Amino acid sequence: MTTESKDLVLTARVSPFNAPSLTTNEGNGLKRSPPSRAMDEVVASAPGKVVLFGEHAVVYGHPAIAASIAQRTTVTLRPAEQPGVHMGRTPLDAAQHPHLATMMGHLWDAERGPGLGISVASDVPRGAGLGSSAALAVACATAFRAARGRHVDAATGAWHEGHASDGTEPDLFRGESVDAPKTLEGERVHGEAAVSAEEASLLGHVAEALSQDGRASPMDTLASAYGGLVLLSNRVEDEETWVMRRTMPVEQHERSWELHHLGDLRLNEGLSLVVGHTGINAPTTNMVAGVAERRSTDKGIDEAMNAIGALVHRGLKALMAGDAEAVGRAMTENHLLLRRIGVSHPKLETLVSAALPTSLGAKLTGAGGGGCMIALTRDAKATSEAIELAGGRTWITPLGTQGARLEACPEGGLLRPD
Ligand code: MEV
Repeated sequence: MTTESKDLVLTARVSPFNAPSLTTNEGNGLKRSPPSRAMDEVVASAPGKVVLFGEHAVVYGHPAIAASIAQRTTVTLRPAEQPGVHMGRTPLDAAQHPHLATMMGHLWDAERGPGLGISVASDVPRGAGLGSSAALAVACATAFRAARGRHVDAATGAWHEGHASDGTEPDLFRGESVDAPKTLEGERVHGEAAVSAEEASLLGHVAEALSQDGRASPMDTLASAYGGLVLLSNRVEDEETWVMRRTMPVEQHERSWELHHLGDLRLNEGLSLVVGHTGINAPTTNMVAGVAERRSTDKGIDEAMNAIGALVHRGLKALMAGDAEAVGRAMTENHLLLRRIGVSHPKLETLVSAALPTSLGAKLTGAGGGGCMIALTRDAKATSEAIELAGGRTWITPLGTQGARLEACPEGGLLRPD
């Protein structure tokens, strides 16, 4: 899936760290641990994302395309004298930090570990539709797995322990910990050799779903864990870029998404993606719940979602063909459909209208109700100025940055051996 063109180039897929797991014959392609560092901290980071097409409809199984961005969240785990887990001086409050609590529940073994100090630093704005909670969950999953380590087959590197997307995941969404299979055979590895984009994306999705009343697609966590451009669909669109199926129980139904990792999208000279922030904080949970409520009484919402689904395929074709004009047109049409399902906001409308005269297309991105919009433009200066004059804060983002990354981990991780 590599396309050369003047404006948009979808480059070959960048391999995320250790992506495949025991779901493949080749094992998980483990690398050996990097040289040990003097510090005893475990540090991991993961990027936020923008949605090019398909937000909200993707929660109901329709396709969507998202890309990781330059802004990242960094999680640091520090062994502490004090028992328990603290953020600063305060014991971790699970209600206040549900994503951290979910990751600890699945990945940490307090009996074998030291007391922990956790700190989070992020330049992904919260409640802005840029995937801040997914970035937190994925960075956290990466840090805890590096700290915990895992048993792997010494010859192939395949996991003997961990959470894989192998059909057992619906139990995870029901709140059960399936740390399976856990034979404790083979060798125990830590740090880089233990972390996995597949697991971080799966557990990140679990954390998102648990904190969004069970209504969350795997889009944000997939983009954050793998990086680059990702496509979700109700069918396998392309064997080469397909990475896994994700299944989750949603209101009596088992919902499935086929997840694809497309690669990086290079915007060639003269083409930019401008992000405009309304400054309004709009929690995703509320926006997704609002759509679910309107959907139960308004048949038009499902029709709009079907139209969004068709549009995503058009957008994908345009991306593959490197046709920036067609990508822009599909973005604007997607915005109109998002307005129809009730997730726009007067300030988003103002920013989108301000951007359109100088751009190829513009739309809200993420959950809406405030947060951010994006515009694809050949005149970044004029588009940014127009959005800022209309009251937005702007920046230009690359599309498709590196996914989750382990920044530091002491050799041997943080847990005492079994
Ligand atoms: C949020 O970035 C995107 C939504 O589609 C929710 C989700 O996919 O879980 C609104």
